[in-house]
Amino acid sequence: MADLDNNGTDLGGRERESWSNKLGFIFAATGSAIGLGNIWRFPYVAGENGGAAFLLIYILAILLIGLPVMVCEMTLGRRTQRNPVGAFRRLAPNTPWWLVGALGVITGFVILSFYSVVAGWSLSYVVKAMVGTFTAGMDFEGMFITHVQSPSEVVGWHGVFILLTILIISAGVVKGIQKWVEFLMPVLFILLLVLIVRGVTLEGAGAGLEFYLSPDFSEITAQTLLDAISQAFFTLSLGMGAILTYGSYLRKRENIPVDAGAVVGLDTLIAIVAGFAIFPAVFAMGLDPQSGPNLTFITLPAVFAEMPLGNLFGFFFFLLLSIAALTSGISLLEVVVAYLIDERGWERSKAAITIGGLIFLFGIPPVLGYSTFSGFSFMEMDILDTYDWLTSSIFLPLGGLLTALFVGHVWGARQSVEEARKGVGRFYFESSYIFVLKWVVPLVIAAIMIAGIWQSFSQ
Ligand code: PHE
Repeated sequence: MADLDNNGTDLGGRERESWSNKLGFIFAATGSAIGLGNIWRFPYVAGENGGAAFLLIYILAILLIGLPVMVCEMTLGRRTQRNPVGAFRRLAPNTPWWLVGALGVITGFVILSFYSVVAGWSLSYVVKAMVGTFTAGMDFEGMFITHVQSPSEVVGWHGVFILLTILIISAGVVKGIQKWVEFLMPVLFILLLVLIVRGVTLEGAGAGLEFYLSPDFSEITAQTLLDAISQAFFTLSLGMGAILTYGSYLRKRENIPVDAGAVVGLDTLIAIVAGFAIFPAVFAMGLDPQSGPNLTFITLPAVFAEMPLGNLFGFFFFLLLSIAALTSGISLLEVVVAYLIDERGWERSKAAITIGGLIFLFGIPPVLGYSTFSGFSFMEMDILDTYDWLTSSIFLPLGGLLTALFVGHVWGARQSVEEARKGVGRFYFESSYIFVLKWVVPLVIAAIMIAGIWQSFSQ
């Protein structure tokens, strides 16, 4: 007799794991969503795009596009019990739709290769804070530049981060991913609470709050819209099958619409809160909100240095950032590993070690982009920004667009609704979900991608 999993799917002789309880999936999916995207990427992208006006467009993108695509990916995963390539193959055999899944697997690979570089910076700052490096008046910009320009240091920390993701993913879905997110996510929330209390009791800078809260729509261009959509996909881990893969370990009794709402809500809350922590501080220190990817690593240490017990809070902050990165990094690796396990019959730890090793190598150009390869530039971007731009501004929105087209018009939005309804009985926004998925998501993404990319190249 064929080997069936708990949903009656033929597993071809292998057993597929499921989250062992309800919170397992919620922690894993929020762990994937909340990451460098919220704390490191969101504030600087918002800063570069004029602050408050960007915030509003971003929230709109999250609600109108992020939420439906999240439900859609969860239903695809749970229905098929497969990695992204297998999911499309199963629902549309003998068609080229599996390529959308393949694009997702490649995107996961590339994102992790530069994600791990920034996560490595964060790990090294945990140690810097621990040994009490942050002192008032020191040159934090110089400190950051010295760090990113030391090849052995950055390569080493990049390696440490990849190694951590390999260790967790090798241990499996329940004993690896679920066990670790159930421990790390509560720690993350507690650290965040401590930092918010500390943040709001600091002497604030009104200019920062104003920048963050009073919109100036004259700054909005097609590129701003593309940045908002890219940020929405990146921060919600959408458009490349991470949520699909985690959804493939879901049991039928879990409530997909509620879970999707919880993940989107928590992720958005944390991004907004990160902005509140960073912008007042940036202005208080007289720094430029447009300083880009370095914002978190230069501004915040300067703020910590000025306050009592600064190194302790700095330690908490960078630990939080590293934990958030780790729970996202594992979901990126899991996509590629799940593909090799399901489609190629690989053994889990062999897949994790091999792919982790390759990702480490692929991350060497961005990690050395500030020293050995500092001469590289593509549309004024360094290597790390180029990897980020290619994946976040092109691959993720494209993946989301194709996934919505597939579910809306090939598999059928009704099928997705039926899957979403399984643990629920009732799915309140059913007809708006169908309409938005079929028409709004594809058209809006296509229009914004064309206009935004056009603008980037014509500058
Ligand atoms: N969502 C993660 C973050 O915000 C990044 C990520 C993107 C993780 C895509 C998985 C898939 O940091």
